[in-house]
Amino acid sequence: MSELNLVLLGPPGSGKGTQGERLQEDFQLPYFATGDILRTAVAEGTDLGKEADEYMQRGDLAPDEIVVGIIVERIATAEAADGFILDGFPRTLRQGEALDEALKGAGRLLTAVLLFDVNNEEVTRRLGGRRTCTDNGHVFHVDFNPPKTEGICDIDGSELIIRRDDRPEVIEKRLSNYHDLTKPLVGYYEQVGVLRHVEGCKPPDEVGADIRGLLATLRMEEGA
Ligand code: AP5
Repeated sequence: MSELNLVLLGPPGSGKGTQGERLQEDFQLPYFATGDILRTAVAEGTDLGKEADEYMQRGDLAPDEIVVGIIVERIATAEAADGFILDGFPRTLRQGEALDEALKGAGRLLTAVLLFDVNNEEVTRRLGGRRTCTDNGHVFHVDFNPPKTEGICDIDGSELIIRRDDRPEVIEKRLSNYHDLTKPLVGYYEQVGVLRHVEGCKPPDEVGADIRGLLATLRMEEGA
């Protein structure tokens, strides 16, 4: 497989970030997560952060023109020449079209869009118990993936916090935005022929193994 250009698609809390970290390690590819990029901008108080903050706190999507620029710029860097992993982008049809245009202009294609199938109940349970590390955004869950020491990140030792948008009323808004604005991308990528379903309700290790199997099959098909 010459390039591995992946999009991780799915509702909030479906495990995109958890599997994105693993894919990044497995394939040594740059990982661009719009949520992480925007949260860093908010923490640093940049203009981008100030603009995105009000949307994120409410559980709404940031305007397309902000996020499109962020991603188009990054996938054009030398770092992403052999491929990339996008988490949380695209999230609207307009973002999907902008990504296609940018890739087409560079003579590139998406390898696969991995759709994490997880129902609303499971999402609510997961986000309710999520803990995120302050330094690098590593993700844990109080029951499903607890840190070795409560409140401390296993990987970098920083404090684990509850994300501001993991409050119940904001989770509800994020879910309804997913169904209204992001789900149309499922049909869009199905038509293009790059959509692959991932059974996201299984335990994290099993989900990871399924994804590795799926990508190995794609490689074999490409080589056939
Ligand atoms: P973003 O940070 O992208 O949030 P999200 O898509 O809502 O996704 P999450 O990070 O909440 O969940 P995840 O799927 O990564 O799940 P995770 O692995 O953490 O975006 C935040 C905000 O930024 C948006 O609301 C919007 O305002 C803005 N934004 C971002 N991108 C944008 C865009 N393109 N356009 C406009 N605005 C944008 O897992 C969740 C929990 O479950 C964890 O605790 C984890 O340990 C646990 N878990 C994971 N997998 C499993 C499993 N298999 N079994 C049990 N537990 C599991």
